[in-house]
Amino acid sequence: MEMLLAAAVVVIIGVILFKYLDCDLTLLWNIKFGKQSSDLVGKVVWITGCSSGIGEALAYEFASAGCRLVLSARRENLLNKVKQKCIETSRGALTSDDILVQPLDLLDYNSHPSVTETVFKYFKKVDILVNNAGRSQRGLIVETALEVDRQVFDLDLLAPISVTKAILPYMIKQGGGHIMCTSSVAGKLGAPGSASYTAAKHGIQGFFDTLRIECAPDSISITMACPGPVFSEALVHAFTSEPNKKLNVEMKKSWNRMTAERCAYLMGVAAANKLHEVWLTPNPELFYCYLFQYIPYFAKKIAVKLGQGRANKVKAGIADLH
Ligand SMILES: NC(=O)c1ccc[n+]([C@@H]2O[C@H](COP(=O)([O-])OP(=O)(O)OC[C@H]3O[C@@H](n4cnc5c(N)ncnc54)[C@H](OP(=O)(O)O)[C@@H]3O)[C@@H](O)[C@H]2O)c1
Repeated sequence: MEMLLAAAVVVIIGVILFKYLDCDLTLLWNIKFGKQSSDLVGKVVWITGCSSGIGEALAYEFASAGCRLVLSARRENLLNKVKQKCIETSRGALTSDDILVQPLDLLDYNSHPSVTETVFKYFKKVDILVNNAGRSQRGLIVETALEVDRQVFDLDLLAPISVTKAILPYMIKQGGGHIMCTSSVAGKLGAPGSASYTAAKHGIQGFFDTLRIECAPDSISITMACPGPVFSEALVHAFTSEPNKKLNVEMKKSWNRMTAERCAYLMGVAAANKLHEVWLTPNPELFYCYLFQYIPYFAKKIAVKLGQGRANKVKAGIADLH
């Protein structure tokens, strides 16, 4: 009888966790018992790609925590609007001088050292760099031009590496720092219909996992944030199988995705606790992350079966894959 009761409790907890959990258990623990983003008050945070989506929501999250900000992307007009909203969100904690709008084209690698110099001249330090900017991709491998693969790698892999290389000497000189990347669940497992994006995100996982080890003696921490599907402009700007052709799809409110605000909140907790890696997604993607991390042989076997549905949707031009 007692065994049955215990089994029932385990099943009920399992069902609740499966239905309501939207992040990994380490992050959940830190939400309940760890530091919050408000503990980052006064820190200087540089966010790339914050003119929309997750980056924009991150700007508001860090602004409401009282962080000073560097806002970067190409669309300067949008960054100025984000800046104004950050000042409002901070409820008096931040003035205009606390937020630097620093336009940046991540594909212009040669500009990264001088832009970084400008940022350090302004704030004298950067506590947290968030390599967030990026573009998703839709297209089957067999139909995708090699030029597209190259463009995805240039933006989603090489650009964050380049900005990081520009900032590292400054962080080492200032005695430490924290680099956060918006990776993806696609950085943990194969995502049919987004192969080059998946490869780029796996690439940054590998690069920054290595950096974490190499730069630990310099007190540099690394946080890899791996969101699942999130509401943003991602599908408007996503690469397709043809070079220079965007997907141009607006996400619908009815789609089953995490809000950018929730994603930013979770990333804020991850930043405050300097967690090495966090998974930000409800099930089934969260469950897949656990499977791929801990039982890869079995996970890869079932992915071949389950992944066909997603590949067929991409083939049929269906944008909502979840
Ligand atoms: N949405 C999702 O479902 C999801 C899931 C997992 C991971 N992610 C990751 O989250 C990050 C943010 O994406 P998002 O979903 O928030 O999409 P988004 O709304 O399209 O935001 C992308 C940001 O990247 C910037 N960007 C693009 N190309 C750039 C360039 N050449 N130079 C500088 N900035 C550039 C954009 O700004 P400008 O156009 O103004 O330059 C924009 O601010 C990406 O790394 C993405 O891979 C998204």
